[in-house]
Amino acid sequence: MSEINEITIDLNGEEQTFSVKPGVPLRDAIRNELQMTGTKEACEVGECGSCMTLIEGTPVKSCLVPAHQANGKEVTTVEGLADDDLHPVQEGFIEEFGLQCGYCTPGFIISSVALLEENPNPSREEIKQYLKGNLCRCTGYTKIFDAVEHAAEAYDE
Ligand code: FES
Ligand code: FES
Repeated sequence: MSEINEITIDLNGEEQTFSVKPGVPLRDAIRNELQMTGTKEACEVGECGSCMTLIEGTPVKSCLVPAHQANGKEVTTVEGLADDDLHPVQEGFIEEFGLQCGYCTPGFIISSVALLEENPNPSREEIKQYLKGNLCRCTGYTKIFDAVEHAAEAYDE
């Protein structure tokens, strides 16, 4: 097996080709090879959701996914959500004070975007269930759930 894999991904709408050793997690490749540091490194073992990233629109814990599995695919990180305006989920987090520490917030936002793409009108219970893979160590969930409900209103318009 070759020591280095060359990988091409569409990262936030831009084609990126880079080389990584086999087995390097997508999270580390994004942060270290492509300098997109919005995807956070925290638990390292798939428990916290801080590294949540979209591959072809599906949320994955990118510390658990080898970078080569994203080869040829569309990858979205928190940096890719806003265009001229913030994404409605980002607006919701600001409006409802859902932003707390910088570690969990990008992951919560990515998961919330995936939820609303799948189900633009979720119940409170559905929001809680969907965000189960994202942990806030300070247990500040209420404002985060409020933020997703706020964003859902924008999806409805
Ligand atoms: S750093 Fe990936 S789930 Fe915690
Ligand atoms: S606000 Fe980020 S871990 Fe609690």
